[in-house]
Amino acid sequence: MSVQTAKRRLSPANIEALKGERPIVSLTAYTTPIARLLDPHVDFLLVGDSVGMVLYGLDTTVGVTLEMMIAHGQAVMRGSQQACVVIDMPFGSYQESKEQAFRSAARILKETGCSAVKLEGGAEMAETVEFLVSRGIPVLGHVGLMPQLVNTTGGYRSVGRNDKEVAKIRRDAKAIDDAGAFGIVIEGTVEPVAREITAELRSPTIGIGASPACDGQILVSDDMLGLFNDFKPRFVKHFAELAPAISKAAEEYANEVKARAFPGIEHTFQVKK
Ligand code: KIV
Repeated sequence: MSVQTAKRRLSPANIEALKGERPIVSLTAYTTPIARLLDPHVDFLLVGDSVGMVLYGLDTTVGVTLEMMIAHGQAVMRGSQQACVVIDMPFGSYQESKEQAFRSAARILKETGCSAVKLEGGAEMAETVEFLVSRGIPVLGHVGLMPQLVNTTGGYRSVGRNDKEVAKIRRDAKAIDDAGAFGIVIEGTVEPVAREITAELRSPTIGIGASPACDGQILVSDDMLGLFNDFKPRFVKHFAELAPAISKAAEEYANEVKARAFPGIEHTFQVKK
């Protein structure tokens, strides 16, 4: 009998231990083929609820369901081997009570095999984070700009622009850190504030539109691959330009089909003699 040694995935504890060692690398993934391509290069893959906007064309992340997150989480687990996989808890699946949060997070872990969840929220979610962590569910926090709150905050504006906002985000980050999160995403936050919070916290901060001083960085992979031509937020850098490459490929395909240049005889099946 041959013994296969499976490569071990990075764990949330491994990610946490990277603070002060080297920057943590993360990207979002929603599908098996993309997870396969990103997996060798990242410490953790986030199955973000941004899936709703990126893949389903929703205006906000509010409409994303637990079932969608579980289906995409399963796809990303199938496509990855070494990265820690973290799955977002969607709006409405955890805010009601810590018990509701535990039930939703347990479903995510059991049905996907991932090792951690992410949830948005500051001081008001600290009790929930502590409840999950103390019952075996590693949690990645998310403070600053919180897209699930778009209906009460009124938009996707960066935060930390006045004393009140600075005090709130510092309080939020500290509360989630004290509650035992293994890391905290800081999104859309004025740079010096994200820098200060990073220096203050026990757990690593993962920045997106935050600061180069954060302990790690994350981007929506479709953004960094240049899959959207229409709008490029300030914090995004295109590391490839896939949108024009895809348009050009589709145009060439259409031209060749119309001209009967594709398929060629080499693309057909023949009976072997
Ligand atoms: O849903 C998501 O993709 C996220 C990242 C932007 C951090 O929360």
